[in-house]
Amino acid sequence: MPSFSQIAALATVAFAAFAAAAPVERDLPIALPAILTSLASELAPVTALLSSIDATNATAQIVDPITSQIESILDGAVNQISTLAGAPVTTVLATANGVLSVTDTAQLLAPVLTTVFSATQDVLNAAGPAAAIIQPLLNEATAALNPLLVAVAPLVNGLLAATAPIVAPVVGELENLGLGPVVGLVGSIL
Ligand SMILES: *[C@@H]1O[C@H](CO)[C@@H](O)[C@H](O)[C@H]1NC(C)=O
Repeated sequence: MPSFSQIAALATVAFAAFAAAAPVERDLPIALPAILTSLASELAPVTALLSSIDATNATAQIVDPITSQIESILDGAVNQISTLAGAPVTTVLATANGVLSVTDTAQLLAPVLTTVFSATQDVLNAAGPAAAIIQPLLNEATAALNPLLVAVAPLVNGLLAATAPIVAPVVGELENLGLGPVVGLVGSIL
């Protein structure tokens, strides 16, 4: 007949097994490749709108709702990404076809950065004298990329390093426009 302490030990083991199995029962969070893919497609029409601006409509009234939308799309992605904090990289980079490589993930992250930066650059190039008025709005939109990078960096070793060379040309052009501070964290990883 098992002693009380043996039963207690068994119960502890059984409970530990149950506790370990429990998270699997939960819905898995959306993985990073899917988050980045939908982020890029959500951003595309909005950044296109920003790029469409010329000297005739480069006003704070027109630019503000567009940059606010970019910020809220980026915030939403950061919230989704935060659900992956602490997950193993095989979960973070899971896709229907297996675990995505870091290099391929960089190919999904880079367009998010370059579309926002390129649109910023398009507006500044086209805005003429209004550039000074709308630049603070553009700065807010590009600054909203920083929390995204802060969220992804600890999830995947080497992801920012793999992304940097892809975005470097765009960041370089922004720095030529005198927008060094605007590129913030992205500039600092190059
Ligand atoms: C700005 O004006 C141009 C035409 O001058 C137009 O093509 C573009 O769609 C306008 N963009 C926005 C965001 O209103």
